[in-house]
Amino acid sequence: MATKIKIHDKISIKAIHPVIGAEVSGVDLSQELDTEIIRSIREAWYEYGLLLFRNQRISGDDQLRFASNFGPIAERHKPKPGANIKEVGEAPDWVNLMLVTDKKDEDGKPVGGLGHGEMWFHSDKCYHERPHRASFLYGIEIPKQGGHTKFSSLYGAYDNMRGELKEKLAEARVMQGYDYRNVERLDLNIDLDNIFHFSQPLIVTNPGSKRKALYVSRLNSMWIEGMIRDESEQILSELFDLTEDQNNYYEHIWQPGDLMMWDNLACLHARTDWPKDQTRMLRRCTTLGEPLG
Ligand SMILES: [Fe+2]
Repeated sequence: MATKIKIHDKISIKAIHPVIGAEVSGVDLSQELDTEIIRSIREAWYEYGLLLFRNQRISGDDQLRFASNFGPIAERHKPKPGANIKEVGEAPDWVNLMLVTDKKDEDGKPVGGLGHGEMWFHSDKCYHERPHRASFLYGIEIPKQGGHTKFSSLYGAYDNMRGELKEKLAEARVMQGYDYRNVERLDLNIDLDNIFHFSQPLIVTNPGSKRKALYVSRLNSMWIEGMIRDESEQILSELFDLTEDQNNYYEHIWQPGDLMMWDNLACLHARTDWPKDQTRMLRRCTTLGEPLG
């Protein structure tokens, strides 16, 4: 990926994969950053969809301050009363900073959310009218093996769609939902009143990069609106495979102190499993995006 953007002379930006992501160096996120540096980071984020900052020592407040440069900080949506939260457990109360962890306190209660183990590709909060646009995930405790995060390019997936499908689905909408399962398609007969769900455009033109992205994921996308179920399932299966093609994603091996920042309209993310006797802890905040129309 050739860099067309003008980079501030204090920082450097280097691609980490042929289709997605770049590492940014020369930035200390524990400090307030000047507007020109933020502008360069924003342009790099539009261009690469995913940015990695290594060796950061930041508090929750530092993380929120940095994130707030990219949009209003999003607040928690509490699970609906009928939601299935058995698999992940009820996370303790939080407002805008969530611990993504399988750690438990002395009484065996989870200290954060999203539990243990593999999680399929998804896009944060794509099932709300205003999906969360930027996600910021900070590595605190990392297992010795596994617990990686895969980031898949939705631009790459769109570019690799058959021309016939691009035409057929140009105006299509897809029902996005979530029922707190990590590695299972949503039950297509589920009562929608019990889960968060929202009908979104299937192809989204990213407001930052102006590139088209294929806005589907195996964990969240239920059906293509107005299409008979068999055809919808067949097409979604082909589209999921495009997003998950091994040439279309970067797999990040975490180190404590890594901060990853990504655009949920440009990429999906997934996590790999790790041994049951090891724990993992990351800290997340997100910014609220605009409705997609
Ligand atoms: Fe996520």
